[in-house]
Amino acid sequence: MIGIGVGKRGAAARAAPRAEHARLGPHDANAVTAVDPFYAGADSLFVRAYDAFYRSEPPQIAGDVAFYAKLAHASGGRVLELACGTGRVTLALAERGFDITGIDVSEGMLTMARRKAAACPDAVRDRLTLVHQDMTRLDLPARFGFAFVPFRSFQHLLTIELQRAALAATKRHLVPDGRLALHLFDPRLDLLSGAATLPAEISGADPATGHRFVGEILRTRFDHLAQIRRDVWRYRELNSTRTVVADETREMALRWTYRHELRHLLELCGFAVEAEYGNFVDGPPAYGEELIVVARSKPSS
Ligand SMILES: C[S@@+](CC[C@H](N)C(=O)[O-])C[C@H]1O[C@@H](n2cnc3c(N)ncnc32)[C@H](O)[C@@H]1O
Repeated sequence: MIGIGVGKRGAAARAAPRAEHARLGPHDANAVTAVDPFYAGADSLFVRAYDAFYRSEPPQIAGDVAFYAKLAHASGGRVLELACGTGRVTLALAERGFDITGIDVSEGMLTMARRKAAACPDAVRDRLTLVHQDMTRLDLPARFGFAFVPFRSFQHLLTIELQRAALAATKRHLVPDGRLALHLFDPRLDLLSGAATLPAEISGADPATGHRFVGEILRTRFDHLAQIRRDVWRYRELNSTRTVVADETREMALRWTYRHELRHLLELCGFAVEAEYGNFVDGPPAYGEELIVVARSKPSS
């Protein structure tokens, strides 16, 4: 999800994907990152409601799977998704025949991804690897032709140091000339000054239970110096009689990054920007729309 421009609980896990490592968790003493706990815990509403809210492809992500599939095909080699969450894109790419590794710092989100993977045919599961890792400390025994960070997940990195650590680690995992795609939002100044507000509510149904999830932002704080927006979200679960059966509140923090800032950051970290878009159907960069960048790893000097 992701806060700006806001547009199953499955059966118990049976089979795990091919390889699962648990090298780094949110409580790893050496972790450089302060992990945003928004997506922590498989039982949390913030994890359980994720697919209900985003399965229907709201405008921010409309067409993203096809976009990443096209780049994966053009790049060749193995595919790496950083911050794969519940496997919304990961599973779709494995179903399209790509050999894909998804990493995420949230065990809760990965639990959801594994439950969904367990319901896939063996051939799809065999192409899928889910790993519990932090993208700022990525350490995998493989190199990839194409890596991507979907749905504004890069914006969970709240400092330049964490952004640089993630980009450096990603570059180490790409083959020479490998590609990286990043999806952020293009900062809309009215939303970031408080002059405009986001849609009042997001909602979606859990296909397994028929319960309805509803999310709303209760309040927002801005740190304009650090370019961070903090939204306090309230999620509720309503049963068939509209009775609230669960109610949780958590804060989500996102750092906004300007298009030219991102370009400079990528150059600094050894990437050459190849293309920029304002949506997933090849639209040009546009103020306040999506900020999608495709870059190539440059040879290290
Ligand atoms: C909006 S969800 C995106 C999930 C999925 N990629 C999608 O497009 O539906 C953001 C994800 O970023 C993950 N995340 C945040 N910081 C991370 C980090 N430092 N390393 C890896 N994953 C991270 C969260 O745990 C969460 O699953």
